[in-house]
Amino acid sequence: MILVTGGAGYIGSHTLLRLMDAGHEPVTVDNLCYGHREAVLDGHFVHADLGDQQALGTLFESFPIEAVVHFAAFCYVGESVTSPDKYFNNNLVNGLNLLNVMLKAGVDKIIFSSSCAVYGEPQEIPIPETHPKNPINPYGLSKHFFEQILAAYNAAYGLKYVSLRYFNAAGADPKGGLGESHHPETHLIPLVLQTALGHRDEVRIFGSSYPTPDGTCVRDYVHVCDLAEAHVLALSYLLSGAESICLNLGTGSGYSVREVIELCQQICQKPIPHRDVEPRPGDPPELVASGDLARQVLKWNPHYSLEEIISTAWNWYQDPKF
Ligand code: UFG
Repeated sequence: MILVTGGAGYIGSHTLLRLMDAGHEPVTVDNLCYGHREAVLDGHFVHADLGDQQALGTLFESFPIEAVVHFAAFCYVGESVTSPDKYFNNNLVNGLNLLNVMLKAGVDKIIFSSSCAVYGEPQEIPIPETHPKNPINPYGLSKHFFEQILAAYNAAYGLKYVSLRYFNAAGADPKGGLGESHHPETHLIPLVLQTALGHRDEVRIFGSSYPTPDGTCVRDYVHVCDLAEAHVLALSYLLSGAESICLNLGTGSGYSVREVIELCQQICQKPIPHRDVEPRPGDPPELVASGDLARQVLKWNPHYSLEEIISTAWNWYQDPKF
C-alpha cells in the first residue's frame, strides 16, 4: 500500500486517481486544513496531522505501507514571507516527523513534492536540476531544506527519494470529478477563469515591464494529470530499487500572463476584464523547466497543451464539485 499525505489537496487528489488506475492501493492522510474530503474519491482515508506522532505511528501499524508520496504542505509564497513560522513548522518539522515515523516503521521510500521555488531567480532558462538553489522566500526555503534533509537521511539511513520540482501546476481531471479549489486562490489560471464566470471583477496583471516579449511574466504551465502521472512513474522507479534523484516537472514551454489571458478569452468565448498593476514582489520574469532529466529517467512525457490545461480547468469551474 502507498501512503499519500495531503491526498485531499489539488495535486494529491489527482495523483490518487492515477495511483488507483495503475493498480496501487492508496491510504490518504490529510488534516483537511486546506484539503477537501470530497476530493478523496477512493481508497482509505485517515484524518490526522503529520505533527501527530501517535496517529502516524498507528497508521503505519495499521496498514502495510511500502512507500510514501508526500504532498502535505502549505504552498502560499506570499503568506510564507509574513508567517515563516507556519511554513517551517508544517513543511519542515511535520515533514521530518513523517520521515522519522517512516524509518521507525521500516519504510524507506518517499516521493516528495518540491517546487521550482528552490531555484530562486533563475540564472539560465530553461532551468536544469543542477541550477544553483537560492530560494527567495520561506516557502522555497522549506522545500530546499527538506531536499537537504532527504539527502542526509539517504546517506545515513538509506532512505530513497524522488524529489519532484513542480513548475506551474494547472488544469483539472478531464472527466470532471476533480479540480483546483484553493481558498484563498492566488494562482493565475483559476483567477482568470473565475473572472470569466463573473465571480471576480477583473484580473490584475502583476507587472508589464518585465524583460519578456510582451512585458509580462512567463511561466511553464503543466497539467495536474501529467504531474500525477509523473508520481506513478517515480513510484515504479523507487520500487525498482533505483537511486534517489531530484527532477524538474515542467513542459519546457513558457507562456506569458497576457498569452494565458488571451487563450482563456478564446476558450471561454468572452472578454475577461484585466488591467496592468504593479509587479508582485518576488516574481521572477521567467520560469521554464528543462524537463530532459524526467523524460530520460522516468520516461515521462507531459502531453497536455496549455489549451487543454485551460479547457479542463474551465469545465471544472463551471461545475465545481467542492
Ligand atoms: N499573476 C498575475 N495576476 C494574478 C496572479 C498571478 O499577473 O492575479 C502572474 C504572476 O505574477 C506570475 C504568473 O501569473 O507571473 C503565475 O502566477 P501564479 O501565482 O499562478 O504562480 P507562481 O508562478 O507565482 O507560483 C508557482 C507555484 C508556486 C511556486 C512558484 C515558484 O504556484 O508554488 O511558482 O516561483 F512556489
